[in-house]
Amino acid sequence: MEQPKVKFPFIKLDFIEKQPLDMIQTSEQLKNKLCKRRTVRSFSDKHVDKKIIENCLLAASSAPSGANKQPYQFVVISNPALKEKIKFAAEKEEKLFYEKRASQTWLNDLKPFNTNDQKPYLTQAPYLIAVFAKPFDFINDKKVKYYYPIESTGLATGTLISALHLSGLATLTHTPSPLNFLNEILGQPKQYKALILLVVGYPTKDTVVPDQGRKKLFEFTKFI
Ligand SMILES: Cc1cc2nc3c(=O)[nH]c(=O)nc-3n(C[C@H](O)[C@H](O)[C@H](O)COP(=O)(O)O)c2cc1C
Repeated sequence: MEQPKVKFPFIKLDFIEKQPLDMIQTSEQLKNKLCKRRTVRSFSDKHVDKKIIENCLLAASSAPSGANKQPYQFVVISNPALKEKIKFAAEKEEKLFYEKRASQTWLNDLKPFNTNDQKPYLTQAPYLIAVFAKPFDFINDKKVKYYYPIESTGLATGTLISALHLSGLATLTHTPSPLNFLNEILGQPKQYKALILLVVGYPTKDTVVPDQGRKKLFEFTKFI
């Protein structure tokens, strides 16, 4: 018996081909702008318009995701009491990390950053964005599995960081480990995996960053 054919609509791709010279210039400019992004660890409390955060989150949602399921959730935190709770929990984990959990090699690798268990920016910055991957969900009590949740969330978060940077904001990719205290504080379902706590705002006027370069193209790329 012939199966009924199910049709899913397609739309025309919104694509305008550019001149190669224009493309080289555009990619050059974009590279220069993106290469100016640095992780900041000293934030002012200067107000950031919520619209900027919303636009950057929408930009993040443009990233490809497994079967277009967008298996992530970004929780945007500006509430001072919640930020205080997060700081308290993060510093507790970080203290254990610096005193017990981290290997000597790891601690040595962290020396150039001059970091420790104190995280004042978690209450100083106007926004924290908790990034959760969703390996699965329950919809009407039915378990729904998602595809490539970590990859998809990573791609969306990278896009978010770039969008925030290009909008004129600074970020810190913060990963106290384990991060599951975020599920409890933010009331997130326990199957959601907390991956990153993104700190967002303006750098303080006197901000300095570690004097470190990046790998040359041939060191992380192979054209074959
Ligand atoms: C997955 C990931 C986790 C990170 N975790 C932390 C962190 O917990 N604390 C911190 O101060 N920086 C953290 N960083 C920031 C890195 O140290 C930083 O990106 C790296 O040194 C390169 O510097 P740049 O971002 O200024 O180019 C993290 C970065 C990534 C990608």
